[in-house]
Amino acid sequence: MTEIIDGNAVASEIRDEISDCVETLQAGGVTPGLATVLMSDDPASETYVSMKQQDCEEVGINGIHVEIEPDAPSEELFETIDRLNDDPEVHGILVQLPVPDHVDKREVIRAIDPAKDVDGFHPENVGRLVAGDARFKPCTPHGVQKLLEAYEIETEGADAVVVGRSDIVGKPIANLLIQKAPQGNATTTVCHSRTDDLAAKTSTADIVIAAAGVPELVDGSMLKEDATVIDVGVNRVDADTEKGYELVGDVDYESAESVAGAITPVPGGVGPMTRAMLLYNTVAAASEQHD
Ligand code: GUN
Repeated sequence: MTEIIDGNAVASEIRDEISDCVETLQAGGVTPGLATVLMSDDPASETYVSMKQQDCEEVGINGIHVEIEPDAPSEELFETIDRLNDDPEVHGILVQLPVPDHVDKREVIRAIDPAKDVDGFHPENVGRLVAGDARFKPCTPHGVQKLLEAYEIETEGADAVVVGRSDIVGKPIANLLIQKAPQGNATTTVCHSRTDDLAAKTSTADIVIAAAGVPELVDGSMLKEDATVIDVGVNRVDADTEKGYELVGDVDYESAESVAGAITPVPGGVGPMTRAMLLYNTVAAASEQHD
């Protein structure tokens, strides 16, 4: 029987733990604060940010939201980041990506105080993660780790294949999988758009993590029997639905489910975990800043 990995259930447990941590911090006079900054009118980005704010409210984190017109000069964004860096009530800052083309994304990431960089994207935090001394693990890779832990999926000595090499997901997940820490010690291969014969790599893997941003790239014929399949993809594809699209992962769920030992659905797998780990990092940031 294929185990369906229920991200909503695991995320809900984590949110309960976070609510308890928030209460403890509040008893000590500190309310964790997360600032989200949106400089975009992309409907998907707007939805993501409003869900993050909703999550904050649910666990008692003080959510602060700043919107900047997409055609505003980049200075407006940098001034906002400076102000949030200096605000003692803001413990975490998340600038929703992508930012408009006239804004340098790398400069934005570097402008955020690394102690408030709850995305874990700042070069200082990337360096610490790679060195095995993570301050904030990026939310999606951390969420994947927590799912593997919750379902007792053995990574020690396992062959893992990560499909995708993004800075946000592929690279940090691969880094965590090779580390000694829990949910590490895996022999890890990173595949990408220039990989020759992707199926040859995935079909020998005990764990496949699909994070390439390509709809249904990995199907059942490319998997080893009983492999664990973690689908990070969230792709909007045209469909005859009310909204005119549907969300599909990087895995062809139907064919993969019949081969896999365990698999995450889309939606309801990794997505809720990413959101939960942002709350986790915000609480960690607040504790650290008031230590
Ligand atoms: N855009 C898509 N995913 C993310 C994320 O994890 N963090 C930020 N800041 N922007 C995103």
